[in-house]
Amino acid sequence: MNAPAALPDPGAIMRLSTAFWDSQTLLTAARLRLFDTLADGARGADEVAAALGLDARATALLMRALAGLGLLRPEGDRFANTPEAATFLVSRSPGYMGNVIRYSDQLYATWGELEQALRSGRPALAAQTYLGDDPARTRAFVVAMHERAQGIARALVGVLDLAGRRSMLDVGGGPGTYSVLLTARFPGLRAEVVELPGVAAVARELVAEAGAADRVAVRDGDYRSADFGHGHDVVLMSGMFHRETPAACRDLIARAAACLAPGGLLVVSDVFTDEGGATPAFAALFGLNMMLTAPDGGVHADADVRRWMEAAGLRDMRVQPLPPPMPHRVVTGVRR
Ligand SMILES: C[S@@+](CC[C@H](N)C(=O)[O-])C[C@H]1O[C@@H](n2cnc3c(N)ncnc32)[C@H](O)[C@@H]1O
Repeated sequence: MNAPAALPDPGAIMRLSTAFWDSQTLLTAARLRLFDTLADGARGADEVAAALGLDARATALLMRALAGLGLLRPEGDRFANTPEAATFLVSRSPGYMGNVIRYSDQLYATWGELEQALRSGRPALAAQTYLGDDPARTRAFVVAMHERAQGIARALVGVLDLAGRRSMLDVGGGPGTYSVLLTARFPGLRAEVVELPGVAAVARELVAEAGAADRVAVRDGDYRSADFGHGHDVVLMSGMFHRETPAACRDLIARAAACLAPGGLLVVSDVFTDEGGATPAFAALFGLNMMLTAPDGGVHADADVRRWMEAAGLRDMRVQPLPPPMPHRVVTGVRR
């Protein structure tokens, strides 16, 4: 008699079915600023509960769960921040990621509406809410992009050589962080950010705060119709293809190619999948996240972007991943 075939392991499915426990534990602790209460050293759950106005028994359960997730370290009956929590989750730390986490927190309820979005084909969250209509959410979105961009732009500086380039158009440049950091890294480079008015207003504040208003201009505009000008050395399109259909991306690439000087560089940076769209898993999930939050939101394959650049007459296309933990890839092409 043949031995019965071994059943596949259900462990991964079981883990996925409760993965939201992990997220909500982190998001809630970050929202409560629990990690701040441990910034000066280990404390017991009772003390933390009293400091935050929480129930002591529930707080002890939360802190043990955070320890299980590697964010706290038990020391007898007290808990300390791990190095990761101290660096990224304490608000006075220069590496604080609170705004990025707050943005994920705001999307938690939106993800709960995945089924409705699949039925209707429409985003669960109206994009205008965070792109101008609701000033508080718009500011939160722009500040979260700014925080995240600081890490990404530093990585981008490592893979892009813009030495000798003088004029950069930063299409959908959000908080302007890339323009600020790239113009600081490459002296002589000036940038113009094109952004929706509600976002542009916050971007102007951030650019001024960074002391970069003399080299980074922010222009109100809809990139679907705005005049891109001409003779630019660099066009940067970062984190916007995931809001657009393939046809719109092709149009943006064609207009970018047309506004570059000969030898000018088009830089498209985003989360991209491999050919086929299913890997990396984070990128495929990111497509769902964008479907939930933008009318044409999704994710593209970097190979498609490369083909669209080729069709627009660009040459010397390159695809480079940003260094981990960034999930982004950068596709570049040069105008003939
Ligand atoms: C994910 S953000 C990326 C921002 C920035 N480039 C970065 O990588 O950090 C996408 C940006 O596109 C902007 N955007 C969306 N639709 C736009 C449009 N039609 N015209 C101009 N900007 C737009 C949004 O306001 C947002 O700042």
